[in-house]
Amino acid sequence: MKITPLLLSVSMATFIAGCSTEPLVSEQAINKNKQAVSKTWPRLDKQVKTSAAIELRITKMLAEMTVEQKVAQMIQPEIRDITVEQMRQYGFGSYLNGGGAFPNNNKHATPADWVELAEAMYQASIDDSLDGSAIPTMWGTDAVHGHNNVIGATLFPHNIGLGAANNPALIEQIAEVTAAEVMVTGIDWVFAPTVAVVRDDRWGRTYEGYSEDPEIVKSYSAAIVKGLQGAPGTDFLADNRVISTVKHFLGDGGTVGGDDQGDNIDSEQALFDLHAQGYVSGLSVGAQTVMASFNSWHGEKIHGSKYFLTEVLKEQMGFDGLVVGDWNGHGQVDDCTNESCPQSINAGLDIFMVPTDWQTLYENTLQQVSDKVIAMSRIDDAVSRILRVKMRAGLFDKPSPANRALSGKVELIGSEEHRQVAQQAVRESLVLLKNKNNILPLNPKLKVLVAGDGADNIGKQSGGWSITWQGTNNTNDEFPGGSSIFDGIYQQVTAAGGQVELNVAGDFTEKPDVAIVVFGEEPYAEGHGDRETLNYQPGGKTDLALLKKLKSQGITVVSVFISGRPMWVNAELNASDAFVAAWLPGSEGKAVADVLLQDKAGNIQYDFTGRLSYSWPSDALQTSVNRFDKDYSPLLPYGFGLSYGDNDVLADNLSEVLTVDLNQSKTKKIHTGKIQSPWQLLLVSGETEQLISSNTVSLPAAEYRTSDRVVQEDAFIFTAKGNTATTAGIKIASESLFQEDMFSSLQSGSYINFDVNIKQVPSTNVLLSMNCEGFGDESGSCQESIDITKLLNEAEINQWQTLSIDLQCFANQGINFGQMVSPFGLSTKGSLSLGIANIIMATPETGQLSMACD
Ligand code: BGC
Ligand code: BGC
Repeated sequence: MKITPLLLSVSMATFIAGCSTEPLVSEQAINKNKQAVSKTWPRLDKQVKTSAAIELRITKMLAEMTVEQKVAQMIQPEIRDITVEQMRQYGFGSYLNGGGAFPNNNKHATPADWVELAEAMYQASIDDSLDGSAIPTMWGTDAVHGHNNVIGATLFPHNIGLGAANNPALIEQIAEVTAAEVMVTGIDWVFAPTVAVVRDDRWGRTYEGYSEDPEIVKSYSAAIVKGLQGAPGTDFLADNRVISTVKHFLGDGGTVGGDDQGDNIDSEQALFDLHAQGYVSGLSVGAQTVMASFNSWHGEKIHGSKYFLTEVLKEQMGFDGLVVGDWNGHGQVDDCTNESCPQSINAGLDIFMVPTDWQTLYENTLQQVSDKVIAMSRIDDAVSRILRVKMRAGLFDKPSPANRALSGKVELIGSEEHRQVAQQAVRESLVLLKNKNNILPLNPKLKVLVAGDGADNIGKQSGGWSITWQGTNNTNDEFPGGSSIFDGIYQQVTAAGGQVELNVAGDFTEKPDVAIVVFGEEPYAEGHGDRETLNYQPGGKTDLALLKKLKSQGITVVSVFISGRPMWVNAELNASDAFVAAWLPGSEGKAVADVLLQDKAGNIQYDFTGRLSYSWPSDALQTSVNRFDKDYSPLLPYGFGLSYGDNDVLADNLSEVLTVDLNQSKTKKIHTGKIQSPWQLLLVSGETEQLISSNTVSLPAAEYRTSDRVVQEDAFIFTAKGNTATTAGIKIASESLFQEDMFSSLQSGSYINFDVNIKQVPSTNVLLSMNCEGFGDESGSCQESIDITKLLNEAEINQWQTLSIDLQCFANQGINFGQMVSPFGLSTKGSLSLGIANIIMATPETGQLSMACD
């Protein structure tokens, strides 16, 4: 291996961490601060008052409940991991479907299937024959931009786009439509709105937030809650409404470096001023539930913080609804696991969201009550809150899910009326960043080329939390009734007598008058979307080349940028005549054309009214620059957005120079908490190589399943079944076998390090392989394997440990690290089962067990 020493030894990760881990406020100051400002947490002016009748009913009911029944109310399992019979047996207070979980595990489940499951779970919960409890359960779902888990539902723009629309009345209408579509499927409870105020756009959940500033978040939170739940005093939690959740409490949008589930080190005053505003407004209008956040505050996980969950939220603010945990969030509290966490309950958590390990958690919690680790009074308080919410929502009085007012009214799911609301939201969310010579709006009689991989791609324009959790791998057919951005352009241009050609790569049969290029980020959700920088496509890979190719042919270029955050796109802006930030518009892509195109008579149909609710960065490292910051110097400020006829503000020669070489890094992350770009995971069974895009994949010889090690889904279990004569394998490879350069960042003494947890020892040899063969390279010289059986046999069983293998071993055999196609593959012909996590190439080795070369 030819090795060059690193020119720059500071990796991005250390650079960012290095400048921000220093606490901005000293511990002393925090404590002082805490006492001083905690009085400023307001007492909520609650519009939903305490009802003496309900309180009496709660007291009576509690007096008759056993401790088993009470604890069961506090456990929320997930539909992939409980059966109706288990609901009958335990009587869980609630259950959820996570993103990408459907009735019968069927992505194409119909609304009737959803109702059927809701009905079966409900009937099992009120059946007291096994558990003695007849308390109705409730089903919670992430309807975060429409009822997004259900095929055919109306998908609204993600929150970042709604923020740009800045129209609380419209937002309330969106929530009302969402509530209706959710009610059609028999579901009671929605885990929305997210009221994060996003301070670092590298965060993977940036698009779940409305803004970087609390102003819009505050007004929206009240509007959404009213739209979902109805207004206190009038139609509060009526037949067509659902329970809402304001989330994630508290400080999720302000973690250091935009790290998902990371640490927020703001002062308490900043926490209140910035991050708590959505709670002040949303809880005042009666939001019945709050979801605890995965993040920490000054190192302490909120799921274990009595200060925030009990003292601030419940006591000081006077919140009398329930606090639900986030997905195994309790397991991240110090000294807790997913199966045991009295700390969270004692801190004030009322419901554990425990998708998989609910049974052990239930048993452990019961034991902890009996051992007085958890006081009975705390259990009673939690259960009172759960019952209060159920009573307010009428769950004891309403008919069963299949017989409710909107149940089964499938015509409401994705109805034309609902879609029109979404189309209005799309139009109002678009922000025009550049419009040279007022090139927009376009005359629909022109010859229009539509290009880019986002043009006719409803999955891409919808982003994460769309049918599946990550939103990847959805086809246009899976959005029946929806439309792509191309669809709208096509309809309007052909109707006006113009000509349209669609070509992703920007080729054409006849030279167009104008090209509309739709491109941007691929879908992601949560930590999978965390980025080290805001640089869009480092190296200007394909999209910039496409824009330049069109420009060089003298074609006017209109860029429509799909993204979950503002990004550093100076080069793409320079290469565009007009540039529209379209965010993640959802299922109604056709509405984009309403704004881009004139009508047949040449009039503006809809002007741009969207305005940035996030500042647009002037450089890839301009990460935490937000409205009202001291040295505020964005490319385009908060509130910016052109209307037709406005003067353009951006020059054509914005700097394209990065301030730091982002490609230099001593560590190459391959799978660290998640598969890292540009890599993909493949499961191998004989000749079959299947792309892994869900949390379990099973082939004849091999099986893959995600698992939780430190945080959710940061690891996976690879099992070779050993039941066939064929090879079983797991492989990490680049998309389209693109040859990635890992060479420039590695140096002599680099290792491939990865963590394993042996669940079942190998029955025969196990090979670790790498591959640097791109397309058309048939020589076979660029694929090498090393036998690591001995190393695995030395490892302890059922325990995580790190293995390190010298990269020189692969280099000796001819692997070229400058053109890697697959940096990691494990294969065997026998049986074995391994937990695997944290695959990196790095200097130095980190393993307890390491292997040099012969
Ligand atoms: C998400 C869930 C999702 C699950 C997939 C979790 O981290 O929050 O909504 O369904 O992962 O396994
Ligand atoms: C997310 C929540 C979501 C929950 C259930 C978590 O991973 O953080 O926003 O409500 O999963 O799917």
